[in-house]
Amino acid sequence: KLSLKREVGLMGAVSLIGGTMIGSGIFMSPQTVLATIGSPGASLVVWASCGLLVILASFCYAEMGTVIRESGGEYIYILRTSGPVVAFMLIFSSVLFARPAGVVGISLSFAQYVVAPFYSECAPPVLLVKCVAAAAIIILATVNCLNVRFSMSVQVFFMVVKVLSLAVIIVGGVVMLIRGHTENFQDSFENSNIGISPIGIAFYQGLWSYDGWNNLNYVTEELKRPEVNLPRAVIIAISLVTGLYLLVNVSYLTVLTPKELISSNAVAVTWNKVFGSWGWIMSLAAALSAFGSLNGTFFSGGRVCFVAAREGHMPDILSMAHVHRLTPSPALIFTTVVSLLVLIPGDFQSIVNFFFTAWFFYAITLAGLIYLKIKKPELPRPYKVPIILPILVLIAAVFLVLAPIIDDPQIEYLYVTLFIFSWVLIYIPFIHYKLYPSLLTKLTIFLQLFLQVAPAEKTC
Ligand code: ARG
Repeated sequence: KLSLKREVGLMGAVSLIGGTMIGSGIFMSPQTVLATIGSPGASLVVWASCGLLVILASFCYAEMGTVIRESGGEYIYILRTSGPVVAFMLIFSSVLFARPAGVVGISLSFAQYVVAPFYSECAPPVLLVKCVAAAAIIILATVNCLNVRFSMSVQVFFMVVKVLSLAVIIVGGVVMLIRGHTENFQDSFENSNIGISPIGIAFYQGLWSYDGWNNLNYVTEELKRPEVNLPRAVIIAISLVTGLYLLVNVSYLTVLTPKELISSNAVAVTWNKVFGSWGWIMSLAAALSAFGSLNGTFFSGGRVCFVAAREGHMPDILSMAHVHRLTPSPALIFTTVVSLLVLIPGDFQSIVNFFFTAWFFYAITLAGLIYLKIKKPELPRPYKVPIILPILVLIAAVFLVLAPIIDDPQIEYLYVTLFIFSWVLIYIPFIHYKLYPSLLTKLTIFLQLFLQVAPAEKTC
């Protein structure tokens, strides 16, 4: 039997969180947030509140990850607290729906930034954008299959690149502020739209940029000294990202007037006012940033399938690792294939779908944490949060999931919910009654030989 090695140190851990959070969002969402919420002041309040919510949520997850020390994120936490049926519904909705939607969203923005400089006069052809997105997915899948350490280096490198590019944006804004360009902040709360729907939409946009905050919880078994490094990485990465996002927004709002900001389709690119003919640098920075976030999403996404297969909730082959490289290659290849399939019809709308499902499952996980705190206080807890924290975040999560449905009921929400629940029908024959087609066994053996993989054990 093989097992994945503990190869992720503190720097890697910080990059897995921060480098996934900083993706395409911060280069694209600020104008949507501003447009929906109406005023620069309210927009900064939204960004700060999203940051606060994510910080509190990630503290809860840090406790969860040090109590349940297996990899797999929400899946494993829900399995251990709410039981196999709920976990099973999660895994399929996440693997076939939410995760690929996330991957498609980021890879499309990467592709858009890559081709944009070549099409300054018109919109680039959709086919080209999709091909570039597919190429990015395939390259990163290959890197992740080859070597864990290499994919971690990619993650750290891109994390540094994006922190530096956000720093450049911030410095540009600060210089303008010092020169006295404070006019965009006068009456900064004028015209704010205070209603459930605008606040909800603004939060969805903002929280998309912060998403990835839970990324380290998917790979706890590969983290060195998780009881120390998990909480530490969470604190460093998330405070860094929140600080950067707030300052970047201040900077955008200093350099561009609210009107200019709203009418630009990608803020970072419209920032030419400061860079002049060097404006393309920002396109490049945005592309690299999305690429790094995609790598982090892959790294953790593969692990979710891997863990679920180990628990018998997905075909056995997905729980195997390459005999020499020790990467969960079957799970990574599977994730890639599903993402490519979703990419064919996919568009940015997928982000909203992603979001709805993701926060639904974050809420169940938080409820699980509250349950563990009340029912199993005796479990060893190297890192603890007061119980009020998960309760507050749970209320926020429930609000985020329910507000848009109540405010503006749409048939899509019903479809999503039916989709999530329909997996029970698959659970009963295949998992509960263990009907396992013999063809699948033959296929597993064939794939095992073909991919040179063998079953891998837990490391905790
Ligand atoms: N926050 C990232 C962005 O702004 C997207 C992260 C996708 N989510 C994830 N769990 N990997 O592009």
